Amino acid sequence: MPRLNNILYLVGTILDKKANAMCCSSVTQLTFSPPLIAASINKNTLTHDFVKERGTFSICLLGRNQSEMAHYFGRNSGRQIDKFESYTYRLSNQGNPFVEGCPGYFDCKVDHQATVELETHTVFVGEILDAEVGSMEAPLTYLDYQQEMCVVH
Ligand SMILES: Cc1cc2nc3c(=O)[nH]c(=O)nc-3n(C[C@H](O)[C@H](O)[C@H](O)COP(=O)(O)O)c2cc1C
Repeated sequence: MPRLNNILYLVGTILDKKANAMCCSSVTQLTFSPPLIAASINKNTLTHDFVKERGTFSICLLGRNQSEMAHYFGRNSGRQIDKFESYTYRLSNQGNPFVEGCPGYFDCKVDHQATVELETHTVFVGEILDAEVGSMEAPLTYLDYQQEMCVVH
């Protein structure tokens, strides 16, 4: 199936002191005021379970040169490994992991009423409570990632 050339992000969560993050292309801004975004997350992922339980999550922007990071966080599950053995993070005001080295971050609280349950995914609607933009680096797109990591699907 053809894909939209979305920008890639990391969705970060933490539960019982276990921090985790996954790569996510299905992220979009819904409204500017109030500042709402949506992230569509597969129900099989650990991130899904953590976000559902915790009710908050971070969105880490990925820069144009971070294909390997997208690959690492998108091809491994926190169910099998501790992804933060290879990367470092700091905690946001809401206590979510901000993966170090990203050009920007959002800290979000789930709006449970607006969140939509699909068969395979949950579309979490999050209110942005804090935002940090560190650099104006160009974002990483799905197409950049596919070409650089030689991924075909
Ligand atoms: C480029 C890329 C984009 C992805 N986009 C999404 C997405 O939009 N939604 C989703 O549920 N999974 C997406 N994934 C897959 C998750 O990142 C992957 O299932 C990850 O291993 C889940 O990690 P976790 O189990 O630690 O949460 C994407 C993976 C890659 C490589």
